[in-house]
Amino acid sequence: MTNPIYHIDSIASFENRINKLGKTWTNIYILVDENTKKHCYPLLLDANPFLEVANLLVLDAGEDYKTLEICDSLWSSLIDTGADRKSLIINLGGGVITDMGGFVASTFKRGIDFIHIPTTLLGQVDAAFGGKTGVNLEYSKNQVGTFAHPLFTFIDSQFLRTLPERELLSGLGEVVKYGLIADKSLFELLKDKENLIQNLDSIIATSIKIKEGYVLNDFKESGDRKKLNFGHSVGHAIESCYMGEVLHGEAISAGMICESYLSFTEKLISQEDLNQVIEMVFSFFSKIELEEKMMEPLINELKADKKNENGVMNFTLINGIGESSINHFLGEEKVKESLMFYLNL
Ligand SMILES: NC(=O)c1ccc[n+]([C@@H]2O[C@H](COP(=O)([O-])OP(=O)(O)OC[C@H]3O[C@@H](n4cnc5c(N)ncnc54)[C@H](O)[C@@H]3O)[C@@H](O)[C@H]2O)c1
Ligand SMILES: [Zn+2]
Repeated sequence: MTNPIYHIDSIASFENRINKLGKTWTNIYILVDENTKKHCYPLLLDANPFLEVANLLVLDAGEDYKTLEICDSLWSSLIDTGADRKSLIINLGGGVITDMGGFVASTFKRGIDFIHIPTTLLGQVDAAFGGKTGVNLEYSKNQVGTFAHPLFTFIDSQFLRTLPERELLSGLGEVVKYGLIADKSLFELLKDKENLIQNLDSIIATSIKIKEGYVLNDFKESGDRKKLNFGHSVGHAIESCYMGEVLHGEAISAGMICESYLSFTEKLISQEDLNQVIEMVFSFFSKIELEEKMMEPLINELKADKKNENGVMNFTLINGIGESSINHFLGEEKVKESLMFYLNL
């Protein structure tokens, strides 16, 4: 597997990046959802008129549509329009589009070329880089997928101008995670709310650099790449149990509080560190009102997490602000306690 490639640049240089690959394709497809068709596709076309001949594939927006049924309809559209093994799919959208478009491309005729142009902050700092693709099954997230890299991921923060604020904040949840697991100065930078937008380009570049470090050293996630899962064990459980109600970044931010609490009870961080995490999370997000009756479904989700080994829950925890460690195996009671801690905040 080759190393992942990304370019942070103006979308005007996209054609040049494509040309540098020295490849030709029989068909080019652009996958969008209804929102990125409206807000991002015109920007892409204006700067890259050569894409006017590309076939546009338009999906409904949202996590609800990240399903095998939609993939099925995409595979059929590809076949109906004569796609072959030398076709290219450009995924223009948030994490749903890049996850699903990457999955469709990496499985169609055993894998065709694809490029990601993420248009959400979450996509730019995380989902569109690192080679994970996938879709949800009825009750559980990202259960079917592949490891496959796009030819490259192209990042232009200009696309974020039309992103709703709640979506922008959701992406910042992932940035908080990078700060917590690996970069104290990034965490500190996020405290400067007044200059957040001005600092966005450097925040994106730092975030992706951190992720790149983990992906390059551990593509298949057998070692340190697991650090990127901080907040995600509890976060994914919340996301699955409250599907359609909470955004990914919101769920993992609640997860980061729970997992920081576990770091505290495991004596890895101080009370002061824990307080800093709570303060940071609540500076961006309101509290998710978890109900006590959801404890059991949440724990069941946590037990089903594909990161677990032999049914034991496996967590990445923090050892301070900007430091983390993997493979902390914790029992159900402790995990429940962390959820109750969040619930009672
Ligand atoms: N593969 C990975 O490593 C990875 C990592 C993190 C998250 N993910 C996945 O990413 C998904 C979440 O991604 P997301 O938050 O980007 O969600 P999303 O793709 O649903 O986008 C969020 C919303 O913003 C809209 N939108 C996108 N770009 C826009 C723009 N520029 N202007 C206006 N509206 C715009 C979309 O239409 C959608 O309504 C989840 O499915 C999650 O599992 C994957
Ligand atoms: Zn995430």
